[in-house]
Amino acid sequence: MSAVLRIKGLAKQFRLHLQGGVRIPVFDDLHLDLDAGEALAVTGPSGKGKSSLLKLIYGTYKSGQGQILVRHDDDWIDLAEAEPRQVLDVRRRTIGYVTQFLRVIPRVPALDIVAEPLLERGVPAEEARARAARLLGRLNIPERLWSLSPMTFSGGEQQRVNIARGFAASYPILLLDEPTASLDQENKARVLAMIDEARAQGSAIIGIFHDAADRRAVCTRDFDLDRDAA
Ligand SMILES: Nc1ncnc2c1ncn2[C@@H]1O[C@H](COP(=O)(O)OP(=O)(O)O)[C@@H](O)[C@H]1O
Ligand SMILES: [Mg+2]
Repeated sequence: MSAVLRIKGLAKQFRLHLQGGVRIPVFDDLHLDLDAGEALAVTGPSGKGKSSLLKLIYGTYKSGQGQILVRHDDDWIDLAEAEPRQVLDVRRRTIGYVTQFLRVIPRVPALDIVAEPLLERGVPAEEARARAARLLGRLNIPERLWSLSPMTFSGGEQQRVNIARGFAASYPILLLDEPTASLDQENKARVLAMIDEARAQGSAIIGIFHDAADRRAVCTRDFDLDRDAA
C-alpha cells in the first residue's frame, strides 16, 4: 500500500508563559510512517501526548522541530511549515479529524453541521443533506433532533453528531480522538463498523481508543508513545 504520512524527528513541548515559563516536554524525536489502508492505534498513559500528536498532524498545534509530510494529491506537503491556506486545503480534502468533543455552534442544526464538509467540497446541497441524514440515522440520532442545534444534546448524542460529520466526506487520512468514549454498546459497534469500512476503502486511520477491545476490533497496528517515541 502507498505511504500517505511520514513524520520525521518531530518534537513538541509546551511552554506555560503565564506560569513562569514552565516547560512541558511531550516528545522530542518522533518518527512515524503510515500507509493507506492501515489503522494505527496511538497508545500510552494519560497525559503522554496522544491528543497532541493528532493536533500536530491536523496543524492545530505547531511543532518546534521535525517534519510532518502529508501526501496531498500528488504532492508531499510539510505541514510543520505549510502556509495557513495550504493547511486549510489539506483539511478540506486530505485529513479528516473527529475531535474528542463536538464544538457546538448555537443555532446551527445538527444536519447542517454534518453536511458542511460535503458542501465545502462543492457537493450539491440536496445530496449533502441526504448523506448527512443517512449518517445521523445510522448513528441512531432521532430525526426530530436533526433540525436542532446540538447545544442541548446529551454527551453521547453530541459525540455521534461529531462522528457523523467526520465521516460525511471521505479522506485519505482520518484522525479519531476517542471516538467511542461515551457510547453505548450498539452505537459503539456502529462506529467501529464505520471505521473499518473507511479503512477497507483505503483511508489511513490514526485513532486513540481508551478501550483495548475497541482498539483490537479495528486497528491493524499500535504506536505506543512510551515504546515508539522518544
Ligand atoms: N495547549 C496546551 N498547553 C499546555 N500544555 C498542554 C496543551 N495541550 C496539552 N498539554 C500538555 O501536554 C501533555 C500531553 O497532553 P495530551 O496530548 O492531551 O495527552 P493525552 O491525549 O495522551 O492524554 C500533557 O502534559 C498536557 O498537560
Ligand atoms: Mg487525549
